[in-house]
Amino acid sequence: MLTVTDLTAGYGPVRALDGVSFTAERGQVTAVLGANGAGKTTLLRTISGLHRAERGSVDLDGERLDRVAADRMPARGLAHVPEGRGVITELTVEENLRLGALGRTGRLDPADLERVYGLFPVLADRRAATAHVLSGGERQMLVVGRALMARPTTLLLDEPSLGLAPRIVAQIFELLRGLVESESLTVLLVEQNARSALSIAHHGVVLNLGRVVADDDADALAADDQLRHAYLGF
Ligand SMILES: Nc1ncnc2c1ncn2[C@@H]1O[C@H](COP(=O)(O)OP(=O)(O)OP(=O)(O)O)[C@@H](O)[C@H]1O
Ligand SMILES: [Mg+2]
Repeated sequence: MLTVTDLTAGYGPVRALDGVSFTAERGQVTAVLGANGAGKTTLLRTISGLHRAERGSVDLDGERLDRVAADRMPARGLAHVPEGRGVITELTVEENLRLGALGRTGRLDPADLERVYGLFPVLADRRAATAHVLSGGERQMLVVGRALMARPTTLLLDEPSLGLAPRIVAQIFELLRGLVESESLTVLLVEQNARSALSIAHHGVVLNLGRVVADDDADALAADDQLRHAYLGF
């Protein structure tokens, strides 16, 4: 379980997060929704130690996370998949996956590779191909797979659906939901595509200008017409 309490952060005079509090349960997808500039990316970067909070705390399964350096996060079970599908295009699919194991232990367990290939068979088919040739959807699978190589308990995903065809988004989201339930992961799914995100999320938190404006079951958020029109864009 990931608990965020009164998290406040910004950039100089810009306050990007203003007293944000919520809980993401284990075995659930928690969607973090909101318009451009709402503070979603800043939230993930602050949780994962890439950006410094001015105030507030983050707890992961009962341990304080907010004084932990970003490079120690994999050892704490936290994996952050930033926006933009940053694969190393000169390396092969398998080499990219192997890099994911370094964060946690520095050693590769071949069983972890096989597990990722089992989840994403398309990556297994292309294991020897350079990542350069992958489609956008395949790259998204690769960055998620690379994060899973560190055996995280908690996965932060920033806009994985951006620029992908709806069919591919649905496929990736379904896979994510299955994984969360079978492995009891805690997932924070940041999305502008609120409709798709809520269709697989258990819970959702809506940000507006750095503040939480709604925090409820995904079904309840999707059924709230006023909220949808005001903040979710569908
Ligand atoms: N490096 C930065 N320097 C200054 N201001 C920033 C920086 N990054 C973000 N901001 C500001 O902080 C606020 C929150 O931005 P953030 O990127 O967290 O929002 P977001 O919800 O992820 O938006 P998007 O949906 O566009 O990705 C915005 O007002 C943004 O302009
Ligand atoms: Mg963002």
